[in-house]
Amino acid sequence: MADALFVVLSKLADSLGEQTLERISTKLIEVAPVLTDFEHSMKQIEAELLILQAFIAQVGTKVGDKAFDAWLDQVRDVAHEVEDIIDEYAYLEVQAVDTGSFFKRKFLQIKKFAAWQKFHSQISHVEARIQRLGEIRNRYGILSGEIDRSKKLRSPNRLFMSDSSYLTDNSEIVGHVDEIGRLTQWLLEYKQERTLIAVFGMGGSGKTTIASSAYKSQKITRTFNCHAWVTVSQTYQVEELLREIINQLIDQRASMSSGFMTMSGLRLVEVIQSYLQDKKYFIVLDDVWDKDAWLFLNYAFVRNNCGSKVLITTRRKDVSSLAVDQYTIELKTLQYAESWELFCKKAFRASKDNQCPENLRFCAEKIVARCQGLPLAIVTIGSVLSYHEFEEQGWESFYSQLSWQLANNPELNWISNVLNMSLNDLPSYLRNCFLYCSLYPEDYKIKRKVISKLWIAEGLVEDREDGTTMEEVANYYLVELTQRCLLRVTESNACGRPRAFVMHDLVRELTSNIAKKEKFGIAYGDASTTQVPPEVRRLCIQRGAQTLNSIGSSRSPLIYFV
Ligand SMILES: Nc1ncnc2c1ncn2[C@@H]1O[C@H](COP(=O)(O)OP(=O)(O)OP(=O)(O)O)[C@@H](O)[C@H]1O
Ligand SMILES: [Mg+2]
Repeated sequence: MADALFVVLSKLADSLGEQTLERISTKLIEVAPVLTDFEHSMKQIEAELLILQAFIAQVGTKVGDKAFDAWLDQVRDVAHEVEDIIDEYAYLEVQAVDTGSFFKRKFLQIKKFAAWQKFHSQISHVEARIQRLGEIRNRYGILSGEIDRSKKLRSPNRLFMSDSSYLTDNSEIVGHVDEIGRLTQWLLEYKQERTLIAVFGMGGSGKTTIASSAYKSQKITRTFNCHAWVTVSQTYQVEELLREIINQLIDQRASMSSGFMTMSGLRLVEVIQSYLQDKKYFIVLDDVWDKDAWLFLNYAFVRNNCGSKVLITTRRKDVSSLAVDQYTIELKTLQYAESWELFCKKAFRASKDNQCPENLRFCAEKIVARCQGLPLAIVTIGSVLSYHEFEEQGWESFYSQLSWQLANNPELNWISNVLNMSLNDLPSYLRNCFLYCSLYPEDYKIKRKVISKLWIAEGLVEDREDGTTMEEVANYYLVELTQRCLLRVTESNACGRPRAFVMHDLVRELTSNIAKKEKFGIAYGDASTTQVPPEVRRLCIQRGAQTLNSIGSSRSPLIYFV
């Protein structure tokens, strides 16, 4: 493009013979090759950014691979640097566009040649960094090519965690009485057609616990001819699920000898179909993350009008909508009194009647309040504290370092593992929007109109180019985050349209740790430091933060007064 521009402008200058144009013509002869070069580099660097962003979105962090994580950090830094160059370029372009005619615009470009010229050194710098990243990867044998989603998502604690919920004794369950009652009633009611029931709620809210309480109830299972419980998880293999169901339904030895291990998925479905043909069955599919699993299993679980029931637990509304509304339970967090009771049962299990000692009550209440009714957090923190001496200072310091504890105390890994699974399941466009939400202060009511505009301004909302406005796309994002139980609607308008959302505080805590680690953004609240780490992309200053000496190289400072 610069070549053509050069030819047109110099011809124009020559033919007009005007002095100014002649001067520009001379200047053009000097700058044209640089402009040509520059535009070429700019295109290359834009393409590079797309690949960098796609790569970062695809790999995420590898659990336990510190070298890879450190290298990925560097990749992120380079992506940020490229993003800045492109932003500045876009800014200069817009300035040029604002000025009237094509020729004026191009003359202005040349006048601003000095400004454009600095891009050259920036681009060369970034290119050198990208090359170095490749060298580092080779030198240390960092395997970035092998992206194994299943490995990324599988966590050693996961199995233990879901097992422990399944094993929770019914006598240990606190609250959710109404939900357990409804579930029991649906499972016992007589209805010929196969009924699909869904329990839906955020990670750690107790879905597996209440499903298992029903599954283990003899009063319920006795009314069925056969039953099975399978954990689907994010990384299921359909064949493995089908085999597991067969193992549980049919005698294990028989299933081994019948060669099920080598059978294809379709054959396994047929085996289940023919076994269930004339039976009243009860099957629990725990922890379902997408509808695909059901599409397959739906065929296996024959509709035989024997009054069978299938129970699904999930964190996702779209999955729970496989069941009709009438058979869906949305599991809410526990009330404060229930949370307190559950916490005391865990933390003071050795003392008489699980009583909280008076000297610890104040601190214990603060800890329970921080859990905001999430059983997973109450049970885990309560259990960890049960090993602590009953001594105020220790508890106070545990409470004051709770954020740090959540991120670093291996005994609390359960909480972060479970909650991070929801984050890992997000597609990259939603993940960034969600990281952005974590910059808001605790319990902040995130207004739909404001967050949509901020996301758009940050370039986090895709332009679908199909007539859908960016605001509409941002609204879809909010719906999706709500349906994944990551945001909760707190205010709606008269037509039922959500007006404000909140994040569960522990989810916010963990997400903001990730945002900080990935240099996506950082929020400063009451106890903040006065120094902003370099290269942080977004900065949120909440009321009470001390004066910051510098806002570093943050692109988007935000200030919230709460
Ligand atoms: N009502 C309850 N009373 C006592 N403990 C509970 C209750 N609900 C959940 N718990 C405990 O909280 C922890 C998390 O519960 P659970 O695994 O059932 O949550 P979940 O909603 O199934 O989570 P996920 O989305 O990860 O599958 C478990 O240790 C479980 O024993
Ligand atoms: Mg579960």
